[in-house]
Amino acid sequence: MRRTAATVVVLLASMGILNAVVPSGMAAENGLASPMGVTIPKGYRDWQVVAPSQRDDTDEIRVILGNDIAMKAFRANTLPFPDGTILAKLAWKRVKSPEFPKTFIPGVAPRIEFMVKDSKKYPSTGGWGFGRFIDGKPADAKVHATCFPCHKANVRNHDFVFTRYAP
Ligand code: HEC
Repeated sequence: MRRTAATVVVLLASMGILNAVVPSGMAAENGLASPMGVTIPKGYRDWQVVAPSQRDDTDEIRVILGNDIAMKAFRANTLPFPDGTILAKLAWKRVKSPEFPKTFIPGVAPRIEFMVKDSKKYPSTGGWGFGRFIDGKPADAKVHATCFPCHKANVRNHDFVFTRYAP
């Protein structure tokens, strides 16, 4: 019985169907790089939570995660963030809980995003490299050209990072 279930999972995954039905904020690190050279960092799903956020117009729940260097900097209010900082933004469509409709829960995950601090590699974008991945695949250069301008326009006084630590 258990083997049958496993076979079905493998089969669906190989058909590319599993990605569509499982609301996953997880993608394997696959070495694929964004046009800025950012890859999906190993183990990011085990990082600590900086803060959650929501966006009304797109009905999305987000959770921002940080690696150890990021968490240390947030807690100590260190700005700018040191090289080696990596921030992850997970997003899910907001859906009503079937068990308790006043509660929203995560639905499908449309994308995952990362910001990697490397001041030598990314001097023209505030020291940050950006990466957006959809089903594990990086978005194109046109999409990546939008990242820094929006972060710069709104949060240049916080090292281009929107999220504040929610203790
Ligand atoms: C139109 C504005 C806008 C654009 C374009 C944009 N972002 Fe953001 N980004 C935000 C906002 C606002 C937040 C705060 C969290 C939220 O919205 O849930 C954020 C948060 C983030 C975070 C978490 C760290 C932080 O700053 O809070 C990452 C990582 C991130 N964005 C990556 C990207 C990447 C990669 C791209 C380009 C593919 C991108 N962003 C494009 C507005 C933008």
